[in-house]
Amino acid sequence: MTTHHNLDRGRREFLRTAATILGVVALASGPRVAGAQTPPAATPLKVAMIGAGREGSALGTLFIKAGHQVMFSSRNPDRLKSLVAGLGPLAQAGTVAQAVAFGEVVALAVPYTAIEEIGKAHGSALGSKRLVLDVSNPIARRDGEDFVKRVNDQGGAGLMTAKLLQGAHVVRAFNAIGASRLGTLAHRAGDPVGVPIAGDDPKAIATAEALIRQIGFEPVLIGGLAMGKHLVPGTPLAGEHSPAQLRQIAATLR
Ligand SMILES: NC(=O)c1ccc[n+]([C@@H]2O[C@H](COP(=O)([O-])OP(=O)(O)OC[C@H]3O[C@@H](n4cnc5c(N)ncnc54)[C@H](OP(=O)(O)O)[C@@H]3O)[C@@H](O)[C@H]2O)c1
Repeated sequence: MTTHHNLDRGRREFLRTAATILGVVALASGPRVAGAQTPPAATPLKVAMIGAGREGSALGTLFIKAGHQVMFSSRNPDRLKSLVAGLGPLAQAGTVAQAVAFGEVVALAVPYTAIEEIGKAHGSALGSKRLVLDVSNPIARRDGEDFVKRVNDQGGAGLMTAKLLQGAHVVRAFNAIGASRLGTLAHRAGDPVGVPIAGDDPKAIATAEALIRQIGFEPVLIGGLAMGKHLVPGTPLAGEHSPAQLRQIAATLR
């Protein structure tokens, strides 16, 4: 009896592990055809958008078009009613805590100054997610020169996010492509628009790459989170580049 029980438990664990691996592989190998209709997500994910302003709502909209479930969040979720009403059944609105609980993937599209507070409130939950996609930037005009200097003194936005969200599997992406351009650029015909990314965790990077392809862009890994300092507006990688151009630019950076 005990032997059977142990065998069953072993089999269940094996199947669970195999299903997880197959899920990652299926997600990572999702189809991407430039200029074509949005391909369906091979494995739909639950994505939490922390920050549903200009960038968060534009990016979340693309995740929905790719077939993922998205919870947009706000400190006042009533504000998101019309956004989610227009996006169909895959969209919902919630508080930040509800979104963190919901998401397998969490995207941060907030003023960079908010990340510390988010880390303090939700750090351990964020550490359990397969990916925290950090879209946020320290910006002097908004956050102050002193704040930006402090981030740079810590090694820049990539290392700083990792420090503020200890244990989270962070990948920086979409930091310097304008919100108003995302919808137009997604699935562009011909050469896709490249999205420079930086991260340290291979599984999180694979998940980010798959998501980026599914929403119609081509990810270009430029290095670990230490290179995340180059993924901010106003740097050579910022703006709209082909993947080949991004690789050329990235080769000149350290
Ligand atoms: N706009 C762009 O084109 C663009 C492009 C690339 C990257 N980014 C980066 O993306 C981030 C967001 O930019 P945005 O232009 O989308 O700003 P935005 O339109 O002002 O939206 C900011 C969002 O952050 C949320 N937020 C603010 N403080 C928060 C906190 N303490 N906890 C939880 N949520 C909080 C706000 O939600 P509530 O106030 O409703 O709670 C709001 O949804 C910035 O770091 C920016 O540098 C922007």
